[in-house]
Parts: sequence; C-alpha cells; structure tokens
Amino acid sequence: MIHLRKATIDDAALLEYWDTQQHVIDSDPDDDWNWRTELTRDFEWREQLMAELNGKPIGFVQIIDPLLEESHYWGDVPHNKRAIDIWIGEEPYLNQGYGTMMMKLAIDRCFKNELVDAILIDPLKTNKRAHTFYKRLGFEFVEERVFYGVACFVFELKREKHQK
Ligand SMILES: CC(C)(COP(=O)(O)OP(=O)(O)OC[C@H]1O[C@@H](n2cnc3c(N)ncnc32)[C@H](O)[C@@H]1OP(=O)(O)O)[C@@H](O)C(=O)NCCC(=O)NCCS
Repeated sequence: MIHLRKATIDDAALLEYWDTQQHVIDSDPDDDWNWRTELTRDFEWREQLMAELNGKPIGFVQIIDPLLEESHYWGDVPHNKRAIDIWIGEEPYLNQGYGTMMMKLAIDRCFKNELVDAILIDPLKTNKRAHTFYKRLGFEFVEERVFYGVACFVFELKREKHQK
C-alpha cells in the first residue's frame, strides 16, 4: 500500500542519500534540491511528499503550481496547471508498479482541486523509460523544451483525458 505524506526536515538525510543513487542522478543530473533549506519552507504553490510503502519511505513526489513557483522555471504558463516531479529512491524498488501507484495518487491530488485542468511533466529528452511510464498513465507529448540548458520533453495530462 502506497501512501503520500508531507516531507519534513527529518527526511533530509534520506533524500540526500537518494540523490547519490545513479538512476536518480541520471534523471536529474544538475539539480541541487537544497533539502535542508527547502524542507523547512512551506508555500501554497508547492507540496513536497514522501511516498511510503507500508510505512517505509521509498520515493518522493513534488507538486507545484508552475505559474506561482518562485523561480518561474516553467516560464509563461496558464493558470490552473500543476507540475509533478517524481522518483523512487533505491533501485530495488524500481519497476514493481510503485511509481505508477505514486503517480496515480499525485494525479488524484492535483485534480481534487476542480480548477486544475492539466498536469505537466518535463522528463529529460533522453529519459525514454520515463516517457513510456508517463504515456502509459495518459500523458501526451506537448513539445521539446530546453530548461536550464538541458533538453526535455514536456508532457501533459488533461483533466478530460484523466476522467475517461
Ligand atoms: C519513473 C519512475 C518513477 C517509475 O516508477 P516505477 O515504479 O519504476 O515504474 P512502474 O513499475 O510503475 O512502471 C514500470 C515502468 O517504469 C519505467 N521506468 C522509468 N524509469 C525507469 C528506471 N530507471 N528503471 C526502471 N524502469 C523505469 C519503465 O518504462 C517501466 O516500463 P517497462 O516495464 O515498459 O520498462 C521510476 O522508474 C524512477 O524513479 N525512475 C528514476 C527517476 C525518474 O526517471 N523520474 C522521472 C523523472 S521525470
């Protein structure tokens, strides 16, 4: 059973350890998440969540409002979108369906807000496995975009598609 709960400063060491795992580095090579700072900051435009498998943390999910996010990473985006980042911390937990369960919980969480009409994600262009993963969940390719010098594919899950 997968459950999402708020990440706290007590999760910092584990998240830093996960950042050293090769599959996590490969999916997000240059990013420093500044856990010890960020886990102490609460914003209405962000949720940082630990995914627990029967009470044991195995992954992380971040949901942001890309319009309000402070670095404006997503640039000019319309109102009422959400953007998700997701990873599983340790290799033995990959490919067992947990990522799908985490993503479904995250998607439901986003669309619970009736104003939200679509969810965005931006895997690396090279992260083919993630593309397959998201397409299987109903996400559709939108465009290729460069974020901070790195080529990414933007995918979107529209509310109508999710409800079908
Ligand atoms: C993407 C991710 C969250 C999917 O979770 P998961 O529990 O491994 O996925 P599931 O078991 O639910 O589904 C399996 C699918 O995940 C995909 N996948 C994506 N990245 C993968 C990886 N590094 N290793 C194994 N499978 C991966 C595969 O396409 C696989 O499909 P396949 O069986 O057709 O090969 C997880 O693989 C992960 O954390 N990957 C590394 C970080 C990452 O790429 N995050 C996304 C960045 S946008």
